[in-house]
Amino acid sequence: MNSTHLWYKNAVFYQVYVRAFYDRNGDGHGDLIGLTQKLGYLKDLGIDCLWLMPIYPSPLLDDGYDIADFYNIHPDYGTLQDFKQLISSAHERGIRIITDLVLNHTSDQHNWFLEARKGKDNPYHDYYVWRDDDQDYSEARIIFLDIEESNWAWDDNAHQYYWHRFYASQPDLNYDNSSVRQEMLKVAKFWLDLGVDGFRADAVPYLFERDGTNCENLPETHAYLKELRQFIDRNYPGRILLCEANQWPEEVREYFGEGDEFHMGFHFPLMPRIFMALCKEEISPIVWVLEKTPPIPENTQWTTFLRNHDELTLEMVTEEERQWMWQHYAPLPRMRLNLGIRRRLAPLLDNHRGKIELAFSLLFSLPGSPIIYYGDEIGMGDDIWLEDRNGVRTPMQWDNSPAAGFSPADPERLYAPIISNSEFNPQKVNVTNQTNDPGSLLSSIKKMITLRKSFQSFGWGEFEWAFDTKQTQSKPIAAFYRSYLDEKLLIIQNLSSQALTAEIPLSSSSISLNEILGKSSNALINNHTLSIDLQPFDYHWFQVKSF
Ligand code: NOJ
Repeated sequence: MNSTHLWYKNAVFYQVYVRAFYDRNGDGHGDLIGLTQKLGYLKDLGIDCLWLMPIYPSPLLDDGYDIADFYNIHPDYGTLQDFKQLISSAHERGIRIITDLVLNHTSDQHNWFLEARKGKDNPYHDYYVWRDDDQDYSEARIIFLDIEESNWAWDDNAHQYYWHRFYASQPDLNYDNSSVRQEMLKVAKFWLDLGVDGFRADAVPYLFERDGTNCENLPETHAYLKELRQFIDRNYPGRILLCEANQWPEEVREYFGEGDEFHMGFHFPLMPRIFMALCKEEISPIVWVLEKTPPIPENTQWTTFLRNHDELTLEMVTEEERQWMWQHYAPLPRMRLNLGIRRRLAPLLDNHRGKIELAFSLLFSLPGSPIIYYGDEIGMGDDIWLEDRNGVRTPMQWDNSPAAGFSPADPERLYAPIISNSEFNPQKVNVTNQTNDPGSLLSSIKKMITLRKSFQSFGWGEFEWAFDTKQTQSKPIAAFYRSYLDEKLLIIQNLSSQALTAEIPLSSSSISLNEILGKSSNALINNHTLSIDLQPFDYHWFQVKSF
């Protein structure tokens, strides 16, 4: 395999909600031309690849994940021409772009569904999953628990029920129909021909349904995804598929196949355990989940993240852990949504600078390629009083003006209010101030990204805890090695709010430690042990050299 095709192994990703990023034409909605203008900011931050959330025509009942036309751009965002311009400007700067590929469902306003509803004789009827009653597939869970009571919805026109895993306005496509399978390959081809570097494939576990199963991760689903992969490898080598499967690691492992299905997969179970570890001030949740994480083929990579556009999902934790997370991170009922928490990173971590940086240090140093959710790099806040997940999708705060530099429009005209609370309003949190301040969160994140990218070990290397993780003294210290070929890094992080001294056993005393990141430390090597004083929430990255 061509190694440049493996660019995603050590790339830093950034998730963009286009509506929220930058409104160039002043209609109150972010747009593609606006995003194009901000590529310089993203390049400067060190971003290698953007993931754009859905930008297609849609009635927006699930913020664009309900697609009404797979072959166009939502007028709020611009035109196909604007999209081409975005791709070429990004590529000129060495930034790749992946887009959302929503395979599982369409909007009920999609022409296929409008036709399908006309009845059994319509050629599009069989593009969706219909039944005369609502009894089949009763073992499939309901995902949008707070809104939906069933995965079946009655359609008055067709006089039948149709199947949907998300909102009722998002009917599931029928993958048993070969025309559907072909249509969706055509959709992928269209965007690949426009130059996208791949897809974040939405909700892939649910493509097929089979009675007597929970209708997730079925062999038929994997077979189709492998077909999609082959199509990409054959015609568009170097483009990638990123898997959104909110599943346990052993199930996500299946989506990597033998290196012939997805290139990347989100590590959903790791994410909440980073938050557990930070709050409990101990590494055990991370130790546990990494033990449960099987090895993956060399040409594949985990995608790690702290937050995204959805609620912080608590599907991949036990009931007891979920209650614990809600109690600690979502004390107000309004902060909870479905099986998760609708808050952003900075408010979740009490807007505590040390904890936020520590969370990023973990994100950038644990195995996988990291993805940053827009705005988290400046510590943006949220608005839990907005409906659904909109509170974590508010306008990007570029400067301290009333519309936060997001739009020339009056603030009243924006698609969503700018965060206005006393801690996170644009006077307190904005890109311009932080860009000019070497001590800002943004500057720290930028530094971490630069360092991460100058060492191969992060993307390619082995991971090994630096000491016996069962020892009690190791509890609050996340210390591990990352190593690749003759490069070796030692990462030491103090999850505790207390200053402490860590004693880390070394395999040899004939080594030197070169601190590559962190406030200069008091580290002493003596008798096969490294002794290091750690401040609360401290993190240090060292390069290890033998002599
Ligand atoms: C997962 C997406 O992340 C979420 O935002 C969306 O609502 C569902 N898939 C349905 O497409």
